[in-house]
Amino acid sequence: MPISTALPRLLPLAALAVAALGVIACQSSTPAPADAPPAAPTPPVAPAAPKAGVTKSSFGTLADGTAVDVYTLTNAHGVEMRATNYGAIIVSLKVPDKTGALGDVVLGYNKVDDYVKDSPYFGAIVGRYGNRIGGARFTLDGKTYQLTANDGVNTLHGGLKGFDKLLWTATPVTRPDGAALQLSLTSKDGDEGYPGTLQLTVTYTLTDANALVIDYLAKTDKATPVNVTSHSYFNLAGEGVGTIDGHVMQIHADKYTPVAKGLIPTGELASVEGTPLDFRTPTAIGARIASTHPQMVLGGGYDHNWVTNWPAGMAADKLAPVLRVTEPTTGRTLEVESTEPGVQFYTGNFLDGHLVGKSNRPYVKRGAFCVETQHFPDSPNQPNFPSTIVKPGADYQSRTVFRFGVDK
Ligand code: GLA
Repeated sequence: MPISTALPRLLPLAALAVAALGVIACQSSTPAPADAPPAAPTPPVAPAAPKAGVTKSSFGTLADGTAVDVYTLTNAHGVEMRATNYGAIIVSLKVPDKTGALGDVVLGYNKVDDYVKDSPYFGAIVGRYGNRIGGARFTLDGKTYQLTANDGVNTLHGGLKGFDKLLWTATPVTRPDGAALQLSLTSKDGDEGYPGTLQLTVTYTLTDANALVIDYLAKTDKATPVNVTSHSYFNLAGEGVGTIDGHVMQIHADKYTPVAKGLIPTGELASVEGTPLDFRTPTAIGARIASTHPQMVLGGGYDHNWVTNWPAGMAADKLAPVLRVTEPTTGRTLEVESTEPGVQFYTGNFLDGHLVGKSNRPYVKRGAFCVETQHFPDSPNQPNFPSTIVKPGADYQSRTVFRFGVDK
């Protein structure tokens, strides 16, 4: 059965308006009112609890000499995330394990150079169209658009110079729920073949409840496909620590979109029942990853789009539970919720150990997994999939929440 093509992308505007009100939040403190009595001497204090906020430092320079920054977001519990204005890349994310020890759970590098040289989208925001568009072309309102082919004959993650390779404008902002960084860019009409000038703002909020909230807001001046997502590579045991085979995954999806050669969807929504893609009950990622099921062979492991079960009666602009993954040795857990109808669960099948990460460890095959909440791949060519076309005057809005915790 075709599912609705009219899933709106609307979020309550209030939440995003808070982000748009952006004011610098760099470790600010409230000034004393002018008529306040002189302050009493401050007694010595115990070593300070981590101070929530945002700080900025250098992340190196691009070949043309442009300086690149990295912003450190800290929450009230010392959970820390660093993100750079190059590609809006999340370069590190330190969350507690069951003993309270912080560990960095995303793959990445220490300086911008390494991202420019060789990165399979580590931590980046990918777009204008995350994942693939078959034949690198689509037809909209009677006109065929030729996109840049960068994955055989197909286009992947925005083309040769997608959003992961652009310099964004970064602004720390205050939000009631935590430390936040707003990143914006303008993608010109015709960039990589896409029509319309697109203005995109992505806001990362690290909440005091140990969640990373990613808000997306885009406007266009011509109809264009938009499908923007976050491409972090997670390993809850720690970046560079072995494979993710032992992580236990539950995906709240009865269906997925099977692919043909080149990982382009066939257009069907197929049941996961009886396949290695059935994660409706928690299952080790590695348990069936080497299966000879044709879909697993085509993907070289998991590299598919699951169709999130939309809770009955829930509006399309609300957050639906997407998945929950746990890492038994550290107890770390990750729960993902999203307003997006699908999720690309990719198990780092293309990693092969040649990339050496920020703590000098090789990133081995299946050393991480990605959770790319999204509209379905190749939607502009798939009439049965929810539409990804954004029109002037109707903004693109999307939210995904990555909630970190521990199972003790
Ligand atoms: C996505 C794709 C994969 C691969 C990675 C990046 O997850 O679906 O096939 O391209 O990004 O290497």
